[in-house]
Amino acid sequence: MLSCTLRHHRLPVTAAAAMLLALTMTSRSMAGEGLRPSLQCCAPQAAQAQDVPSGASATARHRAFLRDGVPIEYRNRISPYPAVVKVIRAGGVLYREHCATCHGLAGRGDGAAGSAIVPPPAFLSYTVKRARAGDEYMLWTISEGGLPFGTDMPAFKDILTKRQIWQIVEYMRAGFPSAEQVDGE
Ligand code: HEC
Repeated sequence: MLSCTLRHHRLPVTAAAAMLLALTMTSRSMAGEGLRPSLQCCAPQAAQAQDVPSGASATARHRAFLRDGVPIEYRNRISPYPAVVKVIRAGGVLYREHCATCHGLAGRGDGAAGSAIVPPPAFLSYTVKRARAGDEYMLWTISEGGLPFGTDMPAFKDILTKRQIWQIVEYMRAGFPSAEQVDGE
């Protein structure tokens, strides 16, 4: 009887100890996990914050440009155009026809055809403000496209003339104005 009581006693004690242990372990692992979600929620945010500005500089094109500059045929090429209304208007027409499907009307990389593309179409309104986006870089990139780097950016050298490419470049540098904005000016 006594041993039975003891045994009964012992059982709850053991069970309580087990529960305590389990609780300690749970709270420890919860504390451990408590760290992880906060890391998980910060990491993508940090990456996102950098993605538009410096994620772009991680692409093969940017690395190649930093290392070698542009291919010889594009070296020291300069836009023959001043950023006058006529040029910007012509560039806008060409941009909307050839580029906006992927890069979006305002150059935010959000064109309908661009959503499934990896890497995604560049955020051009940002690109054009970068120091590297000088004349030779823009002419090279738009002429040759992404073929050398395995991206979906098309090559336009057989589709557009150099002059047309320069007009698009001036249009983008003017801040992607709509046709109404250009004509209103
Ligand atoms: C089929 C979709 C598509 C079309 C159409 C397209 N692009 Fe792109 N473009 C891309 C993608 C994807 C990238 C990013 C990969 C890369 O840099 O090659 C890109 C990158 C670029 C870059 C390089 C940006 C940087 O930060 O270096 C420029 C400049 C550019 N495009 C201009 C244009 C212009 C101008 C047109 C129209 C004449 C155009 N693109 C049409 C998909 C497209």
